[in-house]
Amino acid sequence: MLVLGIETSCDETACAIVKDGKEALSNVIESQAELHRPFGGVFPEIACRKHVDVIIPVIQEALSKAGVSKEQIGLIAVTQGPGLIGALLIGLNSAKALSLAWDIPFVGVNHVEAHLYAAMMRESAIPFPALGLVISGGHTLLLKMSDPCTYERIGSTQDDAIGEAFDKVASLLGLPYPGGPAIEQLAKKGRPGRFQFQSGKVKGRPFDFSFSGLKTNVRYVIKGMNAAKDAPLLIQEEEKADVALSFQETALKDIVCKSLAAASAFDCRSLICGGGVANNQRLKELFELHNNADLPLFFPHPALTTDNAAMIAGLGFHIFAKMGRSSLCLEPFTALN
Ligand code: KG4
Ligand code: ZN
Repeated sequence: MLVLGIETSCDETACAIVKDGKEALSNVIESQAELHRPFGGVFPEIACRKHVDVIIPVIQEALSKAGVSKEQIGLIAVTQGPGLIGALLIGLNSAKALSLAWDIPFVGVNHVEAHLYAAMMRESAIPFPALGLVISGGHTLLLKMSDPCTYERIGSTQDDAIGEAFDKVASLLGLPYPGGPAIEQLAKKGRPGRFQFQSGKVKGRPFDFSFSGLKTNVRYVIKGMNAAKDAPLLIQEEEKADVALSFQETALKDIVCKSLAAASAFDCRSLICGGGVANNQRLKELFELHNNADLPLFFPHPALTTDNAAMIAGLGFHIFAKMGRSSLCLEPFTALN
């Protein structure tokens, strides 16, 4: 079955055609990063307006790149949430309209679950139960998964998401949005051990995360206590890379150590990672380095780490097989329960 996926939860307008939940025939992503760069983060109203402008051409491009006609599409899968409400509505209403016009079913897909499905797309034998680790601009979650659609939450962030922490530290260092890739590149030139930062601990909750303390720690080193946003930096230009390196090591080691400890505590037989931060090469190195139990590790293809519609179409295929079509009354949701 060919599934047309639509993703508009944040600042990417994306459409993909995926065969049988596995093979992406096209994966079109129209990023708005340039538009939001001056604001150092996503500006919701601008995101919504841009989605409206480009959604139809993006869908047309996905069909044409896959070399298929609309008559060959059997199902539409669309991000239902979490995300920005206005942005989600544009994708969801487009999916409903096409479902009616083409007389085919549609299904709503959870964006966070889809990030993890991205790592499973090309894999036929993932050992379950698995530990799911979602590390994106909006989420930092540890889940115990018994299959791709069934899970219980065992840890999450108490404040900032990990990608958000990367973006905020990047902004403090004067690096462009999105900050994760910029920090990763700059950290390569850093000298280890020049700055000492502390990872966040949450009392009584060993598998929860907290990144706001780390971010403030970095802020004090860069700008000093209580300094205004536009205050000059206290550090030398060449020390920026040292800060980037120490921040990245502290944040990523925290994620790696808590994930591996959770996998062991919850008897997980593999670890599946998804979300934009899963693109970070140093994260993969740290996992290899600390993976003493030789847990099988699954990461998405780099093209499927950040927001995309192939992961939505892929998971949508399985949701439809298990639970059938969604109703035309389906509402978007902005946050996970
Ligand atoms: O999954 P995603 O596209 O968006 C959400 O669903 O939130 O993730 C975007 C986040 C941004 O915060 C970005 O800075 C971060 O992923 N990111 C990275 C890297 N590439 C993207 N963070 C660290 N290292 C990277 N290489
Ligand atoms: Zn995402």
